[in-house]
Amino acid sequence: MPANSPSSNAQPPPPVRRHLYTWLIPLITVVLVIAAVVGGLYLQATRFPGEEGLPVADDVEGGAELYARYCATCHGDRGQGTAMFPPVVNTDWVVGDKDRLILVTLHGLTGPIEVRGELYDFDYGMPAFEDRLSDEQLASVLTHIRTSWGNEASPITSEEVAALRQEYEGRTTPWRDEEL
Ligand code: HEC
Repeated sequence: MPANSPSSNAQPPPPVRRHLYTWLIPLITVVLVIAAVVGGLYLQATRFPGEEGLPVADDVEGGAELYARYCATCHGDRGQGTAMFPPVVNTDWVVGDKDRLILVTLHGLTGPIEVRGELYDFDYGMPAFEDRLSDEQLASVLTHIRTSWGNEASPITSEEVAALRQEYEGRTTPWRDEEL
């Protein structure tokens, strides 16, 4: 057979493994993209109702403004409550024990509670504000609700909020009435 015949010059067929990589990498990419989209949709679906669109607080200091931004959607613009959610005017939760009020706002509240003689029972109730509002902002908004619309309770300081935030650091679940 002559040395330059086509058969002796022919390259060996590319190894099978190279074919494997040409489809494996796009396949992994597609699977990752699908996982990211499904994961994103799941996270969105499990958010608290009414939480969407609330801006992260950094520049708002006044209690009234904080209340309007973070609480009024659910508790009414003057604390009167909404069709679904309880009022914050003249409720024992607001004008009563300070620690309980701070903890409820830091970590959220779920399960059956009584507000002004009415029963409320939510699986996903009050959202946690621990990661969204600073000690100063929480003190400010809680002082606002304790002293507005006819409520006449003592103010809450940022030191009081800071102490409870630290004491219950790492708590990731909302409170239930029977724990408080
Ligand atoms: C997404 C709706 C929602 C938002 C926003 C919200 N809450 Fe609530 N809140 C609830 C629900 C629901 C309950 C009742 C929870 C339960 O039944 O266990 C509740 C309960 C409470 C209570 C105890 C009961 C009462 O009415 O006195 C206080 C106090 C309270 N929220 C304060 C606040 C403050 C302060 C803010 C803003 C920083 C706020 N909430 C934002 C839904 C909300």
